[in-house]
Amino acid sequence: MPSPPKKGRVLSGMRPTGKLHLGNYVGALRNWVGLQDQYDCFFFIADWHALTTDYADTRSVKQNSLEVMIDYLAAGLDPERSTLFIQSHVLQHAELHLLFSMITPLGWLERVPSYKEQRENLKDKDLGTYGFLGYPLLQSADILIYQADFVPVGEDQVPHVELTREVARRFNQFYPRKLHAGDRDPQRGMVFPEPKPLLTPSPKLPGTDGRKMSKSYGNTILLSEPEASLRQKLKTMVTDPARIRRTDPGNPDVCPVGDLHKIFSSAETMAKVNEGCRTAGIGCIECKQWASDSLWRVLGPMQERRQKYEANPKLAWDILEEGSTKARAVAEATMAEAREAANLSHEYEAPGQNVAESKS
Ligand code: TRP
Ligand code: SF4
Repeated sequence: MPSPPKKGRVLSGMRPTGKLHLGNYVGALRNWVGLQDQYDCFFFIADWHALTTDYADTRSVKQNSLEVMIDYLAAGLDPERSTLFIQSHVLQHAELHLLFSMITPLGWLERVPSYKEQRENLKDKDLGTYGFLGYPLLQSADILIYQADFVPVGEDQVPHVELTREVARRFNQFYPRKLHAGDRDPQRGMVFPEPKPLLTPSPKLPGTDGRKMSKSYGNTILLSEPEASLRQKLKTMVTDPARIRRTDPGNPDVCPVGDLHKIFSSAETMAKVNEGCRTAGIGCIECKQWASDSLWRVLGPMQERRQKYEANPKLAWDILEEGSTKARAVAEATMAEAREAANLSHEYEAPGQNVAESKS
């Protein structure tokens, strides 16, 4: 059966932070998995981006990238439908980043909100580097090298997509696309379309201590969390502080376990939780068992899918290489247009030819 036409191209990526957790799933991956049938999807591992903050010790980058890839596959990103690749194996990202660096005013980068914030938050690292300032510009290159239409991201990344749009506009203004006889797309006067953020609806996902789930808080539940350890973590998870004794009624709306139910449990279970908690009809222990059941319904199938990659990680690496080869072809086609627009084409041109062409 021929597949229906796609609604455009999607690109997104993550830095390789090591094993992914439920927060990464709910905040991004789950959404990406759902986009695969409707869009021409490119998902990648931003390993160069990891070096913008962790340049001083790069020993774990490769292992972390592999772990993220296995999590991608386990979560349901499908190499048959999406192009899955690793940034540093597609050199064109670096070339485009360099070209963009020529036209990007420093002020545009200095006023990206994450720049100041991160420099203040990560005080133990010297982020006064060229690469760190250029972080969002590298991201712009990631997006534009695939001429992506949509970038599924969380709220925090929207300023980066905005910058990407500005960079695209500036490039297009300076360097209009060169037209050729027999051009497949003669209407398109620009090299770069302006991508739009595709906001990921992300419900608040608390970690085991009730704060936002985050690797830096050490309160995560991994996608690879074994069932016994998942159940153990839930057992000690924070609950509604007003519910001290079993006979005290509670409120799932102020309970982190209640939040988990809202995201992962069926309407039926949710109703039992609401009723039971508010009337002290159930205990937190029972409620947490139900939450564990709901989580395991999501994690169980993922862990089944990851087994073959855990047993043979090279399988996952090979998929990443194959995807990177596909990505490279697309990236090179864009780069050829970008080089030509900026008069850096690799083709020989007879003297004067270039000028004549731009007049026509
Ligand atoms: N900056 C993104 C993050 O921290 C990761 C990223 C790098 C990205 N390049 C990208 C996301 C391109 C979307 C598109 O989550
Ligand atoms: Fe939270 Fe459930 Fe206990 Fe209510 S019964 S306080 S929702 S853990």
